[in-house]
Parts: sequence; C-alpha cells; structure tokens
Amino acid sequence: MKKKTDISQVRFKYKKDILDIKSSSPDPFKQFNKWMKEAIRNKVFEPTAMSLSTVNKKNKISNRIVLLKGLEKNNFVFYTNLKSRKSNELKENKNVAAVFWWPQIGKQVRIEGYVKIVKKKDADKYFSTRSRKSQISAWASNQSSVLKDRDDLYKRIKIIKKRFENKDVIRPIFWSGYLINPFLFEFWQARENRLHDRIVYKKINQRKWKKYRLNP
Ligand SMILES: Cc1cc2nc3c(=O)[nH]c(=O)nc-3n(C[C@H](O)[C@H](O)[C@H](O)COP(=O)(O)O)c2cc1C
Repeated sequence: MKKKTDISQVRFKYKKDILDIKSSSPDPFKQFNKWMKEAIRNKVFEPTAMSLSTVNKKNKISNRIVLLKGLEKNNFVFYTNLKSRKSNELKENKNVAAVFWWPQIGKQVRIEGYVKIVKKKDADKYFSTRSRKSQISAWASNQSSVLKDRDDLYKRIKIIKKRFENKDVIRPIFWSGYLINPFLFEFWQARENRLHDRIVYKKINQRKWKKYRLNP
C-alpha cells in the first residue's frame, strides 16, 4: 500500500542568518541588491522570480510568477503581454504586491507599490536582447485568452516566422514592461524556532524611508 505523505511534517533546514536594524542598509534598494546577489551566489533557482499580485475593479485578487528584469531608477521592472489578465487588471488598479522567496538562504522580500508602463524605447531595447524564438513567441501568444489547442499556437508561430523571414523581429505593441515603484518593503530572515527577523521600510518621501521591526 502507498504511504500517505503527511504534509504537516514536511520540514527543511534553511541557511540561517541575522537581519537587524543596525546592519541593514538605510536604503531598501541597496538592501534588496545585497540579498539578490546573495541568492545568486547561493544558486537559488530562478532568483529573479517574484509572485506578483494584482487587483481587478471588483477587488478580486490574482497572482502569478513573473521575472524581475532590472531595477531602473529604483523601480522593479518586469515584462509581459499588455493584453494579459494581469495587464487588464493593472489598467483597472495600479496597486501591486510582489514576493521573492529564496529558500536556500532562508530569505523573503515583499514589496508593495504602484505600476507605470515602461518607456517604448526601453521596451524595444530589452525586447531586442531576447532570443529570436522568444520574440516570435511573444507575437504568437495571445496571453491569457482561451487557446482551443496547441496546434493553433504553432500555426500562428509559422505565420509570424514567415512575416519576419530574413528580418529582425520588432517588438509587438501589445508586449512591454511595467515599472513597480515601491512604497513598502519587508525583508524577512528565517531564524531558529520561528523567531524570524522582519524589517519593514516604509516610504516617507522621495529620499526618506522609515525602518522598523515586526514580530515574526
Ligand atoms: C518562473 C516563471 C517565470 C515567469 N515569468 C514571466 C514573465 O516574466 N512575464 C510573464 O508575462 N509571464 C511569466 N510567467 C508566466 C506567468 O506566471 C503567467 O502564467 C502569465 O504571465 C499569465 O498570467 P495572467 O494570465 O495572470 O496575466 C512566468 C512563470 C514562471 C513559473
């Protein structure tokens, strides 16, 4: 007989560290970069992956993973299809929340902020760095709309390939990026016996952040 897995008893050991008010940077972006570099050094799989939550006009929340593609002038940048569910929700409500989880180093970062669309020339620049196959996929996928079967997608890929034969694939106007301008960060460090460290940075004004601890 198959043994039943008791999920409540699943446990992992994280690499432990300490986060305190004194040793954390006064600048949350610097603190974020420091942790991101640590995640990369420790070979966290997809360290740039963040769970992104959006809210629609009926106050219903949805979330999904997207990849962070940079920090531009203190904005978190990600790219997507502008007709996708998330983009439709972002048109209705500019508020987002995102979470990074780096298990190998026992760290979590939460951000909350507002989004703005990336400038066209920046989106063009980033799109041009993507592989040709990814560029073609961006054209072919009507992200988040119903797909009858995979053959439909392959048919569209074929058409797009033909359209751009011997040419550079330009960025579709329905594909771009968003800049998240955070007004809140929380840095979470796993500690012994669930007595984790949590430090919040709350934006006071363009240059000033208030820093405080939360109970775990
Ligand atoms: C590791 C990982 C990375 C992803 N990166 C992106 C991304 O950068 N942009 C994107 O649009 N979707 C990305 N996706 C797919 C999204 O999670 C999601 O399926 C898609 O964006 C459609 O979401 P929506 O219907 O809520 O708009 C990624 C998924 C995973 C698991």
